[in-house]
Amino acid sequence: MRVGSYLTRGNLFLAPVAGYSDAAFRSVCADAGCDLAFTEMVSSEALTRGHVKTEALLGREDNEPDYAVQLFGSHPEVMARAAELVAARWKPAIIDVNCGCPVPKIVKTGAGSALLREPGRIRDIVSAMSRAVPVPITVKIRLGWDDESINYLETAAAAVEGGAAAVTLHARTRAQGYAGTAERQAFFRLAEALNVPVFASGDLFSAAAARDLLSEGTEGGKIAAVMFARGAMGDPFIFTRTRALLEGAEEPVIRAADRIAAARRHLAISIRVYGERTACVEFRKQACSWLKGTPGGAELRRIAVSCATATEYGRFFEAWERSSTQRGLEH
Ligand SMILES: Cc1cc2nc3c(=O)[nH]c(=O)nc-3n(C[C@H](O)[C@H](O)[C@H](O)COP(=O)(O)O)c2cc1C
Repeated sequence: MRVGSYLTRGNLFLAPVAGYSDAAFRSVCADAGCDLAFTEMVSSEALTRGHVKTEALLGREDNEPDYAVQLFGSHPEVMARAAELVAARWKPAIIDVNCGCPVPKIVKTGAGSALLREPGRIRDIVSAMSRAVPVPITVKIRLGWDDESINYLETAAAAVEGGAAAVTLHARTRAQGYAGTAERQAFFRLAEALNVPVFASGDLFSAAAARDLLSEGTEGGKIAAVMFARGAMGDPFIFTRTRALLEGAEEPVIRAADRIAAARRHLAISIRVYGERTACVEFRKQACSWLKGTPGGAELRRIAVSCATATEYGRFFEAWERSSTQRGLEH
């Protein structure tokens, strides 16, 4: 699929997820078949002042040939300058504009979902960024601010007018946060209305959900790509399973041994990027995600949440291996 001048490898994406979609997790997802991952949102203000720990957020591993960097901010000139810095140093395939973050600290600066109330500003931001860099600019929006102000068709049109090469819709309102169900018909309505690709985000918790979304819609109203967010946390193999379904094969059962190997790699890269102490404390929440739905997970979670060193995690992974072997889950 073409996104401006960029030709994507496929249509299975990892969403921008703060605290999760860093270099280590994106790399593990790339191994599992993710076609394009988005970094978590990075502050344009902090970037332009040199205040971001950019290496951890924006660095990437060799197995991730390209990625999309997401920026947040509310000033067109600052967003354009941040795009220039990012394009020059990290050479992303896409730069995405966050127009959906509901966190009050972000919203009160006029960024994130606050932009949904100012479609004209979205157009100006995208336009300034598009003029500043040759990289395709995309936007990620929500349905609207709340139920009384559903305006995704308008905000998306404003973004495209400013030069956006694609639009991701998280089919919830700002007021919904991450609760309630995503309004899936909105994906198809938006795809029909726009002449640029539409990426779908919201409630992608299974391979079947992704396959269904990609196969639905009228001729002129197809979703161009799906974006996994919470559904990929601790389960990068959702990419592997979705690809199998899209190719008409059975959904493969992922062996416990493969999950454990991927989790070990996730930790190893995190340690290299953040240093042992920080990575190990941070990885506790990641370990809990990895154990989601794992038989015997409660006991393993108890071990994981007190791990503080690589050696302690070594024992945790061994306990996980033993538990899966005992339960006959090694295949
Ligand atoms: C913990 C968390 C952090 C998120 N961080 C970002 C972010 O940095 N930028 C962004 O555009 N969306 C962010 N999102 C939204 C997701 O990208 C996605 O649109 C949303 O979770 C809906 O998909 P899902 O229902 O399949 O999880 C975040 C979501 C969660 C749960």
